[in-house]
Amino acid sequence: MPAVTVCPCTFVLFGALGDLAVRKLFPALYQLDRAGLLHADTRLVALAREAGEAGQPLASIQQGLRQYVPAVELDAAVLQRFEARLSYLSMDFLSPQAYPALAEKVLGTEPLIAYFATPASVYGAICENLAGVGLLERTRVVLEKPIGHDLASSQQVNQTVARYLPETRIYRIDHYLGKETVQNLIALRFANSLFETQWNQHYISHVEITVAEQVGIEGRWGYFDKAGQLRDMIQNHLLQLLCLIAMDPPSDLSADSIRDEKVKVLKALAPITAEQLTQQVVRGQYVAGSSDGQPVPGYLEEDNANAQSNTETFVALRAEIRNWRWSGVPFYLRTGKRMPQKLSQIVIHFKESSHYIFAPEQRPLVSNRLIIRLQPDEGIALQVMTKEQGLNNGMHLHSRPLQLDFSETYTRTRIPDAYERLLLEVMQGNQYLFVRKDEVEHAWRWCDQLIAGWTELGDSPKPYTAGSWGPLAASTLITQDKRSWYGDS
Ligand code: BG6
Repeated sequence: MPAVTVCPCTFVLFGALGDLAVRKLFPALYQLDRAGLLHADTRLVALAREAGEAGQPLASIQQGLRQYVPAVELDAAVLQRFEARLSYLSMDFLSPQAYPALAEKVLGTEPLIAYFATPASVYGAICENLAGVGLLERTRVVLEKPIGHDLASSQQVNQTVARYLPETRIYRIDHYLGKETVQNLIALRFANSLFETQWNQHYISHVEITVAEQVGIEGRWGYFDKAGQLRDMIQNHLLQLLCLIAMDPPSDLSADSIRDEKVKVLKALAPITAEQLTQQVVRGQYVAGSSDGQPVPGYLEEDNANAQSNTETFVALRAEIRNWRWSGVPFYLRTGKRMPQKLSQIVIHFKESSHYIFAPEQRPLVSNRLIIRLQPDEGIALQVMTKEQGLNNGMHLHSRPLQLDFSETYTRTRIPDAYERLLLEVMQGNQYLFVRKDEVEHAWRWCDQLIAGWTELGDSPKPYTAGSWGPLAASTLITQDKRSWYGDS
């Protein structure tokens, strides 16, 4: 990947007063500025409908910075420089009449980057209006997820945007791809020949991917209830992680080489028929319980909830990849809201050696595992069997981790937020951490058949207590294969 070169650009942010922009995007831009990664001539234009009192919208953004950037990282000189780059324009994104003012504002400041932090339903109209004032000719556009809510609607979004600009200038966000440890997966797999030789069905028994959140719906009930955990998390984040674990080595690190390999994995995912669904997929919905020792309401009792909702807040499933590398290796995926802790991790379980020379009673001791922690406490641990120290212990085995803890190893470097990395890559014109149209569509195709199966069966999510690891059936999903979720207590 190319080293960082800082070029000037004008960054226009549609939806600049929304939660994502205030909580994540402006703080990420500020951090880039603080790290010296915004060119002196880079301009930031915040766009939203709100007219507000003069200066009021900008004040909300500035207040957001002070709230979401850790106090020790707020530097008065950087803040001043950052705020001097920032301007605000109130506009109705759907109205063509609003765009000449934008064109005038950004005139002659190329390249232009347009970030759509808006619902996907307005992407087409924004593109059409930008094109109408000649602002799309060299512009890169960044599209936030979700791209549609099923295959048909995602194709519609993709086709609409494609009318105005080529795929090479479209950056679809999956913020998990911006996480440091997720990028480290690429280094781990393809810069260490040690792993690549073992990375297949001959040596790996199964793979677990867990993305657990401790939070509930956090005031997003209206959005979330139309989506559910399968659409919100599996279709994008978990399938992207699965692709990075399962893909073949790309021939180089170009965006298309990486994305071609990911698409092959998505195409090889075995469909799960309605008959297999009850064995291979578990849906759950949390009921009242506790979080960090405090009582919390159930999903149906959250603010603005519809008490009849059938939407899942938890999914666990067993996926299979039909290719030479992975045939017969289950990938267990699990994600949910209101889990006991925030935890994203991938565990690769290696097979036992076929001939065992130690005392037979030690055989059930764990075999080798590679644990990749994405958050919190980013790091990688390889569990290896060692001999217990001492004269009295004979050849008594113990499992010990060979550990690489990123937060400790690189104490002087803060771990950047995923959006910092992604915004930097867009500014540099690198697409390798963004999702190509066909990846989104293949992922939807696979998820759509699960949703269709649930509808056909009239499936209802199984209740689980907030603060637990999901419904009992999620344990059974893996224990029926004589395995268990790593680390559940
Ligand atoms: C988003 C989902 O894409 O990812 C949210 O829409 C979820 O529901 C979030 O909470 C999780 O991201 P992270 O980075 O906190 O794991």
